[in-house]
Amino acid sequence: MIDSTARPAAAPREPTFPDFRFAPNIGGHADVYEIENLAFHRAGHVLAAMRGLAPWAGRTIVDLGCGTGYWLPVYAADAGHVVGIEPDPALRAAAARRVTPTLDVLAGSAEHIPLADSSADVVHARFAYFFPPGTEAGLTEVLRVLKPGGRLVVVDNDYRWGEFAELLAASAQNPPLQTAAATDRWWAQRGAIRQEVRSELRFASRADLASVLHIEFPAEVAAAWLDRHPAATGLSYGYVLFAATARG
Ligand SMILES: C[S@@+](CC[C@H](N)C(=O)[O-])C[C@H]1O[C@@H](n2cnc3c(N)ncnc32)[C@H](O)[C@@H]1O
Repeated sequence: MIDSTARPAAAPREPTFPDFRFAPNIGGHADVYEIENLAFHRAGHVLAAMRGLAPWAGRTIVDLGCGTGYWLPVYAADAGHVVGIEPDPALRAAAARRVTPTLDVLAGSAEHIPLADSSADVVHARFAYFFPPGTEAGLTEVLRVLKPGGRLVVVDNDYRWGEFAELLAASAQNPPLQTAAATDRWWAQRGAIRQEVRSELRFASRADLASVLHIEFPAEVAAAWLDRHPAATGLSYGYVLFAATARG
């Protein structure tokens, strides 16, 4: 006899995170964002600067908002343990394909990190979550999981230098220089180190450059830039890194 009160077992629910904000560039175009990451990587400057601020060889490093996990194997090449954390289920599934015995990918967000207190040496947040103000809760959570002396390194755009910054300004709804000043102030008030890195995006082809400009900027802004630079296969790019240290 069929028990009419019996219900099918509930499907396991995806965890959700209230601080999750969908990222249209990677979330809507993961394959093109991979090309963008490759172009950042080819130039190499920012990775060297991040390593200088917080070396990770042999250590436990967390990539917060890791997206599809492009950078995870790069860190795993010499880290002791790498943990990618990503709130977007589709991006997290892509990142999970990179898992190895020393590389994990977990569901979480900046304000909900599924790691024990004082368990990480380095936390990276690369164009993820830390767009202050309003990011105090995430900073408190990162400082909870960092060991005393451990470091958070945040990778942000430099709104003041480079061709990418000009494109940001041409597309911006909020004045970018005001955003940059407010961001600098927020981190300075929290004792963070600020470091500028002048670099570039180097693409393998003009088609790759065009596809990336079209996921980052409104179509008319991207098209006008490409018209003005008919031979370009890359553009200058400035980063600002902020590094905050956990006190014991
Ligand atoms: C522009 S993408 C950068 C992805 C990756 N860091 C990279 O450089 O390839 C921003 C990422 O932040 C994630 N994100 C959104 N809200 C977040 C939150 N509250 N905490 C952590 N990550 C978040 C997005 O899902 C996305 O993967």
